[in-house]
Amino acid sequence: MMNKTEKILILDFGSQTTALIGRRIREFGVYTEIIAGDAPLTDAVLTGVKGVILAGSPESAYGEGIAPDKRIYECGLPLLGICYGLQRMTMDLGGLVEPLPKVEYGGVEVEIKLGGQKPKYRRFLAAFDAAISLNQILESGGAEETPAYEPPLHAPLRFTAWMSHGDTLTRLAPGFAQVGTSASGFPAVALHQEKPWVGVQFHPEVSHCERGSEILAAFVFSMCRCKREWTMAQYVEEVRARISARAGRNPVLLLISGGVDSTVVGALLLKTLPGEQVHLMYIDTGLMRKNETWGVKKTLEKLGAKNLHVINAETEFLAALKGKEEPEAKRKTIGDLFITIQEREVAALGLPESYFLAQGTLYTDLIESGKGVGKKAHLIKSHHNVGSPLVDAKRKAGKIIEPLDRLYKDEARALGRLLGVEEDVVARHPFPGPGLAVRIVGEVTKEKCNILREVDAIFIDELKKRRSPDGTGSLYDEVWQAFAVLLPVRSVGVAGDSRKYGWTLALRAIVSSDGMTADVYRFPMKDLLEISGMITNAVKEIGRVTYDISSKPPATIEWE
Ligand code: XMP
Repeated sequence: MMNKTEKILILDFGSQTTALIGRRIREFGVYTEIIAGDAPLTDAVLTGVKGVILAGSPESAYGEGIAPDKRIYECGLPLLGICYGLQRMTMDLGGLVEPLPKVEYGGVEVEIKLGGQKPKYRRFLAAFDAAISLNQILESGGAEETPAYEPPLHAPLRFTAWMSHGDTLTRLAPGFAQVGTSASGFPAVALHQEKPWVGVQFHPEVSHCERGSEILAAFVFSMCRCKREWTMAQYVEEVRARISARAGRNPVLLLISGGVDSTVVGALLLKTLPGEQVHLMYIDTGLMRKNETWGVKKTLEKLGAKNLHVINAETEFLAALKGKEEPEAKRKTIGDLFITIQEREVAALGLPESYFLAQGTLYTDLIESGKGVGKKAHLIKSHHNVGSPLVDAKRKAGKIIEPLDRLYKDEARALGRLLGVEEDVVARHPFPGPGLAVRIVGEVTKEKCNILREVDAIFIDELKKRRSPDGTGSLYDEVWQAFAVLLPVRSVGVAGDSRKYGWTLALRAIVSSDGMTADVYRFPMKDLLEISGMITNAVKEIGRVTYDISSKPPATIEWE
């Protein structure tokens, strides 16, 4: 894919932040492709490549860490080594890497020595100068005819880098010069004096790393001379071409959850293949939010769905959950039943063996499940995708289409917008596979689901209507996820002249960037009180409303 386009190739050695590098560079308007760190660098792989980044790794360059194809050092392309990537280059090229006395983690001051640098590095070194903006660097890049950019650099250049390493260079490889040193005295930046090879010990892709974006941009634009020409619109065209080529005339089945990712894949399929060829299946577990099934149907029909299979499985799920109170037992019951129903219903469609299965897997899902990084994430996704025997069989048969597998969540959202998926769907908060069942603490009954559906609808509706304190958007847009939890606790209250014994509700609203950690949202008190009042007025079964003030960790986002 993408052979026409210029790109930066990223070699993945297993670090959790590898995908972030790709995303940062795509934000600059340059396409990136991530491949296995030891993948053969064939002519086909190198077509269109303007530079290569060797990314980080949890392993040691002198230990279990894998090495890239040696061709990387012969192909003449600019190289940027990041953390392990720099250590790898050092080991491969005749230097030495050894363990640090103590792992270095977090913000570390780095000083750049400006004197004696080759003029060719002047534009790269500009990235370390706080007086130079990211925009200046972005604008300096591109075609050869761009006017020469001679940044006046002001020594000394100091910034706080973000480090995470247990090894260090103890001897640079021949030809390299150390131009950056960390406050702890170890090499932080090294440049090759003849070849276009640079390396940094820290992680410029991490948002806490000062000058991080500038450093990546300086590599991409002043060393690789990339043009800013990649757009999401172009990506859509390429993905569509890829889907057509793979699917041919075979049917494609997509299991829809109603969330952003699967809906965006649905939109892609429907905009690419004839409607008759695309089968969309949605299983209504009865644990969905108010009017959710109706909304999913409407969205897909608007996008042109012809074969939409909505399976109503509420009775089966509620029966299976009867009497189950333990969170894990509830999750397992739902997961197992989901798989059983999915297999039964897919078989009932009678599709030919040759059908393809499409999925909304994101890049983050792949790294998380494939490499054991974030085991929780593996569990999170297992309900809908990774663990299903149907998916496993199709994957083995090479019949899986995963058009979002290079994208991050917010990129999938941007793609959805471009395809005309409604903002309401694209901007949706995440919703767990087991649905309301993990938001009803203890046993799940239809009555409790109905109560929670009502409450949740009021809460979410109000979040969408109310402006954030700074007036830039709605409260809904400001939080990463918000929902209500029904607790198995009843408390006494008054209703008119009589006493009332109502259920207790917890409202939760968190801010997060990826769901792995989360902070409590500082909910504006006026809004919180008003929404609480609206809920107890409208839903008579609720006697008391509380606000969950726990961050993750130690709490999880969901209650079960
Ligand atoms: P926790 O509760 O583990 O949740 O802090 C992190 C994020 O994952 C979502 N979540 C799930 N998503 N199936 C899913 O598809 C699940 O079983 C599941 N459990 C939690 C949760 O809503 C939050 O966004």
